[in-house]
Amino acid sequence: MRATARAQPNIALIKYWGKSDVARNLPAVGSISITLDTLYTTMSVEFDSAIDEDRLTVNGVVDAAMLPRVSQCLDAVCGRGRQQASITSQCNFPIAAGLASSSSAFAALVVAADAAQGGSRDRAGLASLAGLASGSAARSLYGGFCELENEGGDIVVRSLRLGSEWPLKVVVAVTEAGPKAVGSTEAMEISRKTSPFYERWVEQQGDDLAAAREAILDRDFDRLTEVAEHNCLKMHSVMWASRPPMIYWNHVTLECMQVVRDLRAQGTQVFFTIDAGPQVKAVCSPEHEQLVADALSGVSGVKHIMVSGLGAGAAPVEDE
Ligand code: DP6
Repeated sequence: MRATARAQPNIALIKYWGKSDVARNLPAVGSISITLDTLYTTMSVEFDSAIDEDRLTVNGVVDAAMLPRVSQCLDAVCGRGRQQASITSQCNFPIAAGLASSSSAFAALVVAADAAQGGSRDRAGLASLAGLASGSAARSLYGGFCELENEGGDIVVRSLRLGSEWPLKVVVAVTEAGPKAVGSTEAMEISRKTSPFYERWVEQQGDDLAAAREAILDRDFDRLTEVAEHNCLKMHSVMWASRPPMIYWNHVTLECMQVVRDLRAQGTQVFFTIDAGPQVKAVCSPEHEQLVADALSGVSGVKHIMVSGLGAGAAPVEDE
């Protein structure tokens, strides 16, 4: 009744921002993402008839705040009549800082919980369950490039390309290591209810998804650059125009964006994307990885740099 799984966070190139159904955590828009490889969460789940309530530790520290969401996710995977569980999570990158730690955490959790009970569910089923807990987590069940759609209330995730077929690199510039002020779940609802741009955002998403999907299928870096940066800035415009406004950037975030744009103007294949936090993720071709990493680490205020390739989806691993 114990199993361990590992999952990598994913970074959206076409963003999920807004829900059509809060209770079922259904996204109002589709999204396209890349799954990383060197950043990961390792999650162990042990069902134990001797304990009377779930226990969660994250990086060795008891985490009471996260426990209700984790318990609810275990109920969804294993049924409400399940045994209580000890859950141990280890994450090798900053948590809740706009680095998609919830995507790797819930993807690893559903895979570990299912494996601890015999591993009867398929990837699509596990993706839907992860998506109930956190929308972006459904995408971490898949590697490389994938697209998530809400098809009439069902979460469907499709692989567009394996990472090995287009081995792009991601350089993450961490500009602030602390947790974010407003979590994305709450922030999305504020945007939906108050941003004058929200409806247009939802209306236009199909066009951005189509453009990015085609660029990925054609491995056309320039076309992907144009639509990914546009979609990212459009999502942040929705946030900025919300009441209260949600501005996740700091001045270092802006410096990093400028460095990426300058590199591109000099012929480097690189574009930026930014989520609900101040970190800048620079997606680049493998031959430009070092150049991009050096340029971003030279920006005053960048705390550290993480570099990743594209990885496979969440999977069980040997117990540690
Ligand atoms: C900006 O998946 O964290 O990273 O479903 O409420 O848990 P919940 O939201 P979450 O939101 C991710 C938002 C984003 C864009 C993206 O990853 O697509």
